[in-house]
Amino acid sequence: MSQYQAVKGARDIFPEEAVQWKYVEAIVHTLASLYGFSEIRTPVFEYTELFQRGIGATTDIVGKEMFSFLPDPSGRSITLRPEMTAGVMRAVLQKNLLSQAPVHKLYYISELFRKERPQAGRQRQFSQFGAELLGVSSPAAVAEVITLMMQVFESLGLQGLKLRINSLGDTDDRVRYREALKEYFAPFDDILDEASKERLQKNPLRILDSKNPAVQEIVVGAPRLYDYLKAASRDDFEKVLFYLSERGIAFEIDHRLVRGLDYYCHTAFEVTSSELGAQDAIGGGGRYDSLARELGNSSDVPASGFAVGMERLLMTMEKQGLFASLIPAAPLVYVVVQQQELGDHGLQIAYRLRKEGISAEIDLAARSMKAQMREANRMRASYALFIGSTEYAAGLYSLKNLGTSEQRVLSLEAVLEILHEPASREVVKL
Ligand code: HAM
Repeated sequence: MSQYQAVKGARDIFPEEAVQWKYVEAIVHTLASLYGFSEIRTPVFEYTELFQRGIGATTDIVGKEMFSFLPDPSGRSITLRPEMTAGVMRAVLQKNLLSQAPVHKLYYISELFRKERPQAGRQRQFSQFGAELLGVSSPAAVAEVITLMMQVFESLGLQGLKLRINSLGDTDDRVRYREALKEYFAPFDDILDEASKERLQKNPLRILDSKNPAVQEIVVGAPRLYDYLKAASRDDFEKVLFYLSERGIAFEIDHRLVRGLDYYCHTAFEVTSSELGAQDAIGGGGRYDSLARELGNSSDVPASGFAVGMERLLMTMEKQGLFASLIPAAPLVYVVVQQQELGDHGLQIAYRLRKEGISAEIDLAARSMKAQMREANRMRASYALFIGSTEYAAGLYSLKNLGTSEQRVLSLEAVLEILHEPASREVVKL
C-alpha cells in the first residue's frame, strides 16, 4: 500500500464508475449536438483577474474558494478555473467569434476546482457539463438552454428533480431592489450575522441565500425582487415561463432564488434533487449579458447558459438505481493457449483479432490453462478461443461459446466470421 492518498476533496474514478460517466457523457454529447451546440475546451487555468472580474469580487468563489498561484515570482497570478462561463466568454471574445457569426452555441464537460470544505457532493476537484448560448438574449434563448438541460435529465431517467426559477431583472431593477433590501434589513442589525452584515453592504441580494436559520426567518418578510421589475423585465420573464409551460417543463417560481455568481441578470434558475442532502443543487444557470463588458468588451454580449455538477448527477442516478444495467465492457473473446510453447502464436492471434476490430484478451504472464480460463470467466468474455498443438498443426482453432458451452473446431477464417457476426456480440455472460 502506498503511503499517499488522493488529495482531500479529489477522488479516483475506477472502471466500474467510469462506465457510468461515459454513459452520461454520451447522452450529453448527443443531446447537445441535437440542439446545435458544439464542444469547446478551454485551459484549466486562467489569469486570476478573469474570475475576479467575471464572477464578482464579493462572491464566495472569488473571496475564498479559488486555487490561485504565481507561476513565477514576476508573473501574473493564475487560478485553476472554478467554473466555465467566464473562460468560455474569454475565449469567444479573444477569438472575436461574434464578428464571424452572431450566435454561438457551445457546450463542455470539464473539470473544475473550488477550495470548499469537502463533504458528500462537494469536492475540491469536480466536473460539470454545461452549455453557453452567446449572442442572443431572447426569452427563447434562455428557454432553449433550460430545455436542453431538462432533456438531459429526462433522457437519463432522473425523477423528482425540482426546477426553481426567478428573475433578477436588469441593472436598474436591481439598484432599486438593493435599496429596498437595505432599508428592510437595517432594523435587524441584532439578528444579522457578520457575513450577512457584510453582504448587506457589498451585495444585499446574497442575504436572501443565507443558510443561517435566524436570518432565513427575517428573509421571509423581505421585499420581492419581482415587485421591483419594470414591465419589460416582467414580460421577458413571463415569456421564458410560457415556453417552459408549452414544453411541459415543470418549474416553481422562487422569489428568493439568487445565484452565487454575480454575472446574472433576468432569468436565473437552479435544479435541486431531494436525494442529495445538504448539497442539493444539481445544476444552475441563467442569463448573463454584462459578463462580456466586465471582461473588457466594449459592449454587453447577450448570453445565457447552465452547468450541471456531474458528481451530484451521478450520485442521484445511483440512488435512483439508474445504473443497474451498466457493466464495464467485457472482451468478446479470450485467447487461451494450451501449452506455453504456443504462447507467441496466441499473442499473434490476439493481435490479428484486434486488428480486425474484435476485442480480444490474452494472458501476458504465461499462466496455466486453468488460470487463463479463470480470467476469461472473471472478465466475462463471451468466447474462449483455444489454441492446442494438434489443432495448431492443422491450422485449426477451437472456439467455445462461454454462454452456451457449445464448442467447435474451425479455421481462423471461420472463427473471424463468427466473431464478426453481430449476434456473437450479444452473448453476455454474467
Ligand atoms: P454553479 O451553481 O456554481 O454555477 O455550479 C453548477 C453546479 O456545479 C452546481 O449546481 C453543482 O451541482 C456543481 N458544483 C458546484 N460546486 C461544486 C463542488 N464543490 N463539488 C461538486 N459539485 C459542485 C456555475 O458554475 C455557472 N458557471 C453555471 C452557468 C453556466 N451559468 C451560466 N452558464
